[in-house]
Amino acid sequence: MNFFKIFTAIFIVTSSVVFAHSGVKDKNVKERMMLMKKMADNTKIIGHMLKGKTSFDANEAKLALERLSSLSLKTPKVFEVNATDPKSEAKPTIWDEFNEFTKLSEDLAATSAVLAVSIDTIEVLRPALKQISSGCKACHSRYRE
Ligand code: HEC
Repeated sequence: MNFFKIFTAIFIVTSSVVFAHSGVKDKNVKERMMLMKKMADNTKIIGHMLKGKTSFDANEAKLALERLSSLSLKTPKVFEVNATDPKSEAKPTIWDEFNEFTKLSEDLAATSAVLAVSIDTIEVLRPALKQISSGCKACHSRYRE
């Protein structure tokens, strides 16, 4: 397992758009950005444990993964309306391929739920974060500018 790659991935996922949502007027766009912000916050909880910024806590990790799972399930709902905003980074193809978009959300929800059950040692946290990050990336690379 390559530490550097994982931390780079988590860095990209969590900090590439620092508060892009500030100044967004559209209610739907704001809502989906806030949901994504929560995704990043929960991913960070795991990232911080891995970096040793916080101590490993299986229960906290489990909760973060459970929240990631339910946030992923909610993702298609907050993207249902094809809303736009100058600050949005959502690609219009989302609404042409909404089934595919939904599937990527459900995949991440399922992955997170499975991982939530299996987290008991810090050793499994690293591959877990990798799986989560690839779930985020699978969608971002396709549907986010
Ligand atoms: C099914 C698709 C999908 C998945 C899965 C997904 N995202 Fe996103 N994400 C998007 C889209 C689309 C945007 C752009 C939304 C916009 O700007 O209107 C976005 C935006 C973001 C933003 C920027 C929010 C802002 O304030 O502008 C962050 C941070 C983010 N995602 C984190 C994550 C993390 C972390 C994960 C994985 C745990 C994840 N996303 C999984 C589709 C997804």
